[in-house]
Amino acid sequence: MSPSDVDRLIDELTIEEKAALLSGSAPWESTPVERLGITSIWFADGPHGIRRETAPLVSLPATCFPTQSCLGATWDRDLVHRVGAALGREASAQDVAVLLGPGLTMKRTPLNGRNFENFSEDPRLTGELAVAYIRGVQSQGVGASLKPFALNNQETFRHWVSVEVDERTFREIYGAVTERVVRDAEPWTIMNSYNRVNGVFAAQDAWLLTTVLREEYGYAGTVISDWGAVHDRVAAVAAGTDLEMDFTPGREVSALAHAVRSGRLEQSVLDRSVRRVLELLARAASTERGIPLSREEIDAHHALAREAAAAGTVVLRNDGVLPLSPGSGTVAVVGRYAAEPRMQGGGSALVNPTRVETALEAFQAVAGSVAYAPGFSLTDSARDEALESEAAAAAAEADVAVVFLGQTDGTESEGYDRATIDVPDNQLRVLDAVTLTGTPTVVVLVNGSVLRVEPWHESVNGLVHGWFSGQAGGPGVVDVLFGAVNPSGRLSETMPVRLEDSPGFATFPGERGEVRYGEGVFIGYRWYDALDLTVSYPFGHGFSYTTFEYSDLAVEVIDTTTGAVTVAFTVTNTGRRAGAEVAQLYVGDTEATVRRPVRELRGFAKVYLEPGESSRVVLDLNNRDFAWYDVVDALWRRDGGTFVIEVGASSRDVRLSASIELPDDPRIPALTEDTDLGLALQGRHKFDPYDQDEAGRSDARHHAQPGTVDAVPWRALGGFRGQGSAAFG
Ligand code: GLC
Repeated sequence: MSPSDVDRLIDELTIEEKAALLSGSAPWESTPVERLGITSIWFADGPHGIRRETAPLVSLPATCFPTQSCLGATWDRDLVHRVGAALGREASAQDVAVLLGPGLTMKRTPLNGRNFENFSEDPRLTGELAVAYIRGVQSQGVGASLKPFALNNQETFRHWVSVEVDERTFREIYGAVTERVVRDAEPWTIMNSYNRVNGVFAAQDAWLLTTVLREEYGYAGTVISDWGAVHDRVAAVAAGTDLEMDFTPGREVSALAHAVRSGRLEQSVLDRSVRRVLELLARAASTERGIPLSREEIDAHHALAREAAAAGTVVLRNDGVLPLSPGSGTVAVVGRYAAEPRMQGGGSALVNPTRVETALEAFQAVAGSVAYAPGFSLTDSARDEALESEAAAAAAEADVAVVFLGQTDGTESEGYDRATIDVPDNQLRVLDAVTLTGTPTVVVLVNGSVLRVEPWHESVNGLVHGWFSGQAGGPGVVDVLFGAVNPSGRLSETMPVRLEDSPGFATFPGERGEVRYGEGVFIGYRWYDALDLTVSYPFGHGFSYTTFEYSDLAVEVIDTTTGAVTVAFTVTNTGRRAGAEVAQLYVGDTEATVRRPVRELRGFAKVYLEPGESSRVVLDLNNRDFAWYDVVDALWRRDGGTFVIEVGASSRDVRLSASIELPDDPRIPALTEDTDLGLALQGRHKFDPYDQDEAGRSDARHHAQPGTVDAVPWRALGGFRGQGSAAFG
């Protein structure tokens, strides 16, 4: 089938066949229509490896790459693209036409059980890496599925909780990722989420799936449902969910056909989705699949998994103990995760690895001598003093101790959230026993999302975050520990001093069916900066084994109308080793009409430099990098005034800064003093708070009078669904 067949097939398909086409025929397969030569295609998870089920929860071997939280810490578009291409190649080999990834979810709370399946707490970093990943996958003739759209930032109540979010927050943070990915990567499919958004199930939300996604973001691909996310198939088609996927698919095919025959659903609306599904099938039909991987490809993918694991490893703290000296001295390797790798989280993303290499094996291959001590049980949270003593004895005899710590399996997964971000107490007891020996100690964190490291991190000599880094994560982190790879990982999510400091703490996981995103746009570092909170390690932080200097910042305003600005600066490797620096560009709006974050990531570059080498980095800014979303006038508004341009090695390690002046955006109506910024309903009122009526109430029109617009509950108006005319750029 080719794209040129689509019009003819729409004419020839019966209503029943069309309805069937809009649902899967099996959990992982679309519906064929043999009569017209329409073949089915296969879908498979997941974001860090192919889970091609051959039986329930049994899948074919595939490379278990580092999870997205590790890839997010690479800040490396090229590397993520290469991982995406390898995933696409493996999907193709297993005759998978659409790979169900990447995750787009913002890390609103460190507790989200699926944080390991997502890149970051920042929409720009997430969007750019998702673009690289999708372009990689789709370069292999396999479709990606950006997921889940939208606002599935927790697993608790995920199937029905209503995320109560204001429109500005949605557009500036949560929607912005999809907007960028649609524009720059054109994913074949986008998967909608289970949850409700301001009371409406995402799969049945026309504002989300048609007004925003298609009419404003310009998405032209196919929207598929999450598995079981459709509650009313007719409403879902009408809203823009083209293909329903489910573990028991096709339940409502007859209802869909009946809805068309009875006039409840316009035939044109049915055909709209039929066209999108046929176009997906035609795309899939245009490439050959099923060519097995060669042995060389399998080995090359394992090597790539190791490279990516090393690149995502973040050196958080180092008093000089790192890098370790290969081939000399004794290393006490403590903690079961060195021998029993915790390479991924649970749920639909689970991969059956082609092979697994452990950190312990890698230590034994590179260190002088190794003493291994498991230190603690993974199945019993109780202290084991014998294991503690064994670990202490090993450390006492060693030149350095490397202690692997992380929460236990079953704490990070699809389907439920974490209860804590603390390292289990029995593991901290082992760390105490090791540090008390006085042997220099390095801790490696093996976790899908951030952990609380206070106060013990100040008593260790080195601290490294290894994430869930896949089947070759062990050797990958050891490559960094011994300096075979100069670390270049940077935090893509803040490490708070305590969970209570995190932005979603007071509202997670919600109550009575709703979770309110009361922090607004202030998630991640935006929150900690707004409250000027101390953090253990900030967004963007990570050490190298060399040093970098920033110099010669030049900010040039190219066009005051479009907001085109170039930011140029020089990065120099001032150390004795080659290495990569992640130079980060942040913008702060100091004179906005609304409350804005202190700084927001608006660009980054990963530059690889030899000792003494310099690189001139030039990053471009455009209007959207300065604008906020004005819900009253339904547009992106750049306030005139002073903007601070910051360049640095993390969100809290600013090396260069400059201020620029930009005027109001002349292309949009200026704010006037009587524009009521508090009123987001139709028909802008002139709101004069001092215009008291006889009852002493200010501006009587704002007190709901029966039958007036104000009297209609905000939700009944579909929340913020009546507006929206965002323009990207
Ligand atoms: C799951 C997940 C989704 C996955 C799908 C198929 O419920 O939410 O990410 O791709 O179903 O397994």
